[in-house]
Amino acid sequence: MLKIGIIGDIVGRNARQLILRILPQVRKEHKLDFVVANAENASHGFGLSIAHAKDLLCGGIDVLTGGNHSFDKKEICSLLADSHLQEQNPILRPHNCSKELEGSGLYISEVRGERLAILNLMGHFGMPHCDNVFVCARDEVQRLHERGVSNIVIDIHAEATSEKRTLFEMLKGDVSAICGTHTHIGTDDLMIENGSAYVSDVGMCGALDSVIGMESDAPIKRGLSGMGHIRFEVSKSERTIFQMIIISLEQGRAIEAYKIRYVQTLGWLPTLEAICIPS
Ligand SMILES: [Fe+2]
Repeated sequence: MLKIGIIGDIVGRNARQLILRILPQVRKEHKLDFVVANAENASHGFGLSIAHAKDLLCGGIDVLTGGNHSFDKKEICSLLADSHLQEQNPILRPHNCSKELEGSGLYISEVRGERLAILNLMGHFGMPHCDNVFVCARDEVQRLHERGVSNIVIDIHAEATSEKRTLFEMLKGDVSAICGTHTHIGTDDLMIENGSAYVSDVGMCGALDSVIGMESDAPIKRGLSGMGHIRFEVSKSERTIFQMIIISLEQGRAIEAYKIRYVQTLGWLPTLEAICIPS
């Protein structure tokens, strides 16, 4: 059995610091074998610097995923491009990004004698141009099955719930889990069906008193004026939320899923559990 923890979008410094503070304890208490986190907003809300990537990978995260902000900090391209460095610093960008871009969206590792694949994908609605996410997902999952890999966890970084849900309906029974990221707002639809766990969005690790982790004044000005050029800054609010989906896998099938949440200043919130629908 493998127990995997999935953290949604990490937004800014307070979120990084909270993760570094509590993750070792979370790993221990929940007996996690592997932790995935989406880090495309980890550095000042836009992109991921090399230093912050290394901090997070040394702090208990096993692989970092990305999305529409994967290439915001140009320095990260050197790590994305180098497959040798990627083994030491596993950082993914969406697998269906243009082949012209550095890096890969697939990471396969050996965890407690089992192979585990992490596949990072990006949706279409409101996102930069990328290859067809459904074709990419279907073909890559088929290739993984042909290679004998049955533990497959997908981070689908997308705006539209409908795209995430479509992916789940297409792949349920063929993958271990599909977890959405990008909207920063955790959804209450965690479930297991046909051995596949699903949640539309894990929810961010970031400031609660904010607009998706950003100071509220700029989005309000942008909303009132209709002008798109007003610069967003990461919220400095101390009230930071940590959210993680935890999934137990047995021979590639999800058998248990639940969500833990911690708010700095409030402590741990009640755990949310998935309703398992037997197949
Ligand atoms: Fe995003």
